[in-house]
Amino acid sequence: MDIKKVGVIGCGQMGGGIVQTCAQAGFDVIVTEVNEFLLEKGLNTIKLNLSRNVEKGRLSKDEMEAIISRIHGTTTMSDFSERDLVVEAVIENMDMKKNLFGQLDKICPSNTILATNTSCLSIIDMAMVTKRPDKVLGIHFFNPVPVMKLVEVVKTIATSAETVAAGKQFGEKCGKKVVIAQDSPGFIVNRLVIPFILNAIRMMDAGIATKEDIDAGVNLGLNHPMGPLALADLIGLDTVLFIANATYSELKDPQFTSPPLLNKMVTAGWLGRKTGKGFYDYK
Ligand code: CAA
Repeated sequence: MDIKKVGVIGCGQMGGGIVQTCAQAGFDVIVTEVNEFLLEKGLNTIKLNLSRNVEKGRLSKDEMEAIISRIHGTTTMSDFSERDLVVEAVIENMDMKKNLFGQLDKICPSNTILATNTSCLSIIDMAMVTKRPDKVLGIHFFNPVPVMKLVEVVKTIATSAETVAAGKQFGEKCGKKVVIAQDSPGFIVNRLVIPFILNAIRMMDAGIATKEDIDAGVNLGLNHPMGPLALADLIGLDTVLFIANATYSELKDPQFTSPPLLNKMVTAGWLGRKTGKGFYDYK
């Protein structure tokens, strides 16, 4: 299937990044949010990111205008009735995602591919609320989406080979390297990085090293762009905790048990960059 028209549900950190990436790749994109305020906020962030690219000389003003003209905002789901592919990027809540897939199944033509950007939830559970489980898959982007060069295409036991191929082609057209994973918690990257982050938190809490030294160790000793605690702040500590708990509840693998310090920070509302405080201060 040749994907030309894309729909994105959610215009937050991930959804907005997906919209920007798709429009930059030449796709016509409709994005929806729950209300006008959040939609405008998300669209303005995209425009700000694009303007920065113009300031840095990576994009001409005309190119920016052309990208923006390919993005259409709406708060009405029925506007998704002519999309070739829809990617949902709402919060990690299975009931909400199932509800969305049920609605999309009714609104979209039978050949529309329905994708989730979930980082850890079971995709077959979402697929089974539709009448097209063969056309449901995971298309998992990384934060910040316009910068990160990877997409995980995730196939359930019911996803057809044709749908996987279309997802892969879409990811590549977005300029990303596509890797294929099974519908198993955390797929490839989060399955590796979440225990890594949790161990860094345990190490800091045990007083083995300071947060700055743990991060510097990984940054300079392993050449990662940022250390695990700074990365946790970027991902969002609530998201790290959510992925850890969801993966533990399915696999019962003790690597994914959440350290008490992480639970406490999330309870305190110290969620990382988005709240201005996590392991580091951003105010
Ligand atoms: N949106 C768009 N562009 C952004 C951006 C954002 N939110 N944040 C940074 N950038 C761009 C900057 O404009 C800059 O562009 P140029 O170099 O072309 O000017 C470039 O990225 C580098 O940014 P900075 O110079 O400000 O800072 P940096 O060099 O330290 O890079 C970083 C920032 C890209 C975030 C880098 O530190 C990095 O790659 N960190 C690791 C990120 C990572 O591992 N992400 C995966 C998280 S896991 C996940 O997402 C999966 C999940 O399910 C939880």
